[in-house]
Amino acid sequence: MMKIAIIGTGYVGLPTGVGLAELGNRVVCVDKLTDKIDKLNRGELTLYEDGLEELFQKNVAAGALSFTTDMESAVKDADVVMLAVGTPPHPLTKEADLKYIYAAAEELARYLQGYTVVATKSTVPVGSGDEIEKIIRKVNPKADFDVVSLPEFLREGFAIYDFFNPDRIVIGAESNKAREVMLNLYQPFVGKSEILCVKRRSSETIKYASNAFLAMKIHYINEMADFCECADADIKEVAKGMGLDSRIGKKFLNSGPGYGGSCFPKDTNAMAQMGRKFGAHLTLIETTIAQNDARKSMIGRRVIELVKERPEGKIAVLGLAFKGGTDDCRESPAIDIVKEMIKHSRNIMVYDPKATENAKTILNNTVQYAESVDEACRDAEVAVILTEWEDFKHLDLKRLKKIMRCARIVDMRNMLSLDEVQQLGFDYQCVGKKIK
Ligand code: UDX
Repeated sequence: MMKIAIIGTGYVGLPTGVGLAELGNRVVCVDKLTDKIDKLNRGELTLYEDGLEELFQKNVAAGALSFTTDMESAVKDADVVMLAVGTPPHPLTKEADLKYIYAAAEELARYLQGYTVVATKSTVPVGSGDEIEKIIRKVNPKADFDVVSLPEFLREGFAIYDFFNPDRIVIGAESNKAREVMLNLYQPFVGKSEILCVKRRSSETIKYASNAFLAMKIHYINEMADFCECADADIKEVAKGMGLDSRIGKKFLNSGPGYGGSCFPKDTNAMAQMGRKFGAHLTLIETTIAQNDARKSMIGRRVIELVKERPEGKIAVLGLAFKGGTDDCRESPAIDIVKEMIKHSRNIMVYDPKATENAKTILNNTVQYAESVDEACRDAEVAVILTEWEDFKHLDLKRLKKIMRCARIVDMRNMLSLDEVQQLGFDYQCVGKKIK
C-alpha cells in the first residue's frame, strides 16, 4: 500500500485516483475548486466515464479514496504526488500553457516531508521535468524528492478500461530510487503490461510522439480516402487490406471528418512548436495539422455546394461531439464544419444525443438546436452525419425520406449501408468512395 496525492481531478486525475485506490493504495485527490471537491465528498462524480461510478463509490466507502482542497494535508504524508492539472494550449503560441502545473509545483514544494516522488501525469513539453525540479528546489532547498515523468495514455470514454489494461506504462526517471518507487506502485501490472523505464526527456517525448503519430495515421487514411474518391477505389476495402499487415495495424484507420478532441489538436501543435524551438523541423506533423484543419473547411464547403440551388434551405447536422460516446465538443471537427457552413447559411439545425449543452456554449444562437433526429431532418435539404453515434447506424431511413424536403445524406463517418440508402433512393455521399 502506498500513499498517493493526486493534484487535479479532471479526466486524467479522477480515473487515475480511482484506479490506484482500487489497486490497494490510499489516495487523496486535491483540487482548488471547492465546488468540485464538495460534490465529490458528497459522493457525486464531476464527470462521466464508463465504469467510474461503481469503483468511485466502492473506494470512497472503503476509506481508500478521499478529496480535499487542502494541499498540505494530502502532500505531507504522500510517497508519490501526481500532477494531473490541465496544460491547455496557449491562445496565441499554441504551446502547452504550464502556468497551472508550475503553480502546483510551487505550492506542493512547501509541504514535502520525507522522500517523495513527484510524478507528472499532465502532458508537458520536453524539458518540463527539469523545470519542475528547479521550482521545487528553489521553494524548498532541503526537500528530499525526485521528479519523474509518467505519461498518461487514457482515452476518454475508456479511461477505466485503459487504466487497468494499459498497452504500456512509461516511467521517465533520472534516479534508481525514484524508479524503484514507481515500479513498486505499478507492481500489479507486472506480467500483464509492458513497463518501460527510460530517461525523463524520452518519456516526455514518447507521449507527444505517440499522439502525433496517431493523428498522422488518421490524416494519412483521410488523404487516402480523398485519393480513393478520385481513383474509383473504396477506402473501407483499402483500410482493411492495409490493416491486415501487422506492421500497420487495424486501429486508427477510420476515415472521417478529421481528428479532434482535447488531445490530438493540442499535442500536435505543441509538438510542432517544440520542433521549431529545438530547431528540428517536424514536417510531417506540420502538414498533418494544416491538412486536418483544411479538411474541415473543405467538408463545410462541400455541403454548402450541395444546397446551392436553394441557399435558404435547411441543413440538418447529426452529431456535434468530437467522437461517439462522449459529450465533449472540445476541438470537435463537427463544430468546425458547422462554423464553416454558418458563413454561408443561416438555416442550420443541429442534433446530438449527448453533446448539445456543450455545443451551445460554442455555437450559441448561430444555429437551431433539435431534440431529435426527426426534428433536425424535417424539411431539410440535406442531413450531414458528423459524429459516429451508435444511434445513427439505426436511423429510420424510410421515415427520414418522408420528412426531408430532399432525400439527401452526407455521411462523413461511413455509418450507413450503401445498399439500403440506394434502395430507398437517397442521394448519398460518404467518405472515400465515389457514389455513382
Ligand atoms: C486520445 C488518445 O487516443 C489517448 O491515448 C490520449 O491519452 C488522449 O488522446 P481521445 O482524445 O479520447 O484519446 O480520442 P481518440 O479515440 O483517440 O480519437 C481522437 C480523434 O480521432 C477523434 O476525433 C476521432 O473521431 C478521430 N479518429 C480516431 C478518427 O477520425 N479515425 C480513427 O480511426 C480514430
